[in-house]
Amino acid sequence: MYVRQGRFTKGQLDKAGEFTISVPLENPDPQINKICGWQSGFNIDKVKEAGLELVDADTINTPGVKQYPLTIECKVLYAQDQDLSKIPEDIREKTYPQDVDGTY
Ligand SMILES: Cc1cc2nc3c(=O)[nH]c(=O)nc-3n(C[C@H](O)[C@H](O)[C@H](O)COP(=O)(O)O)c2cc1C
Repeated sequence: MYVRQGRFTKGQLDKAGEFTISVPLENPDPQINKICGWQSGFNIDKVKEAGLELVDADTINTPGVKQYPLTIECKVLYAQDQDLSKIPEDIREKTYPQDVDGTY
């Protein structure tokens, strides 16, 4: 899993050391995707704004999401910075421009 350093998600991951991946079994809800994929937890409460219903996980303390009921419960085993020099130049320039603030 790749998470940019400036994401709200990064701080949450560092604190919790675990996370869930919530997969829809039917058509994904466009409103949930829009809020969770484009808004930041720095600015809004995504659970509230997207109307997520949280359900306890079986093996970790981080909940899953009722609307997306295939829940993969994960623990962070290790983290490392991406090695930009290993990414093909065209992708690096397009996706990881170094003169742009990548926080959000
Ligand atoms: C389809 C899709 C895939 C995404 N994948 C990633 C990803 O792999 N890593 C990442 O850091 N951001 C990814 N993003 C961007 C974050 O979801 C987005 O910036 C979000 O607003 C971050 O919220 P946060 O600040 O609460 O962490 C993706 C967005 C979309 C729509």
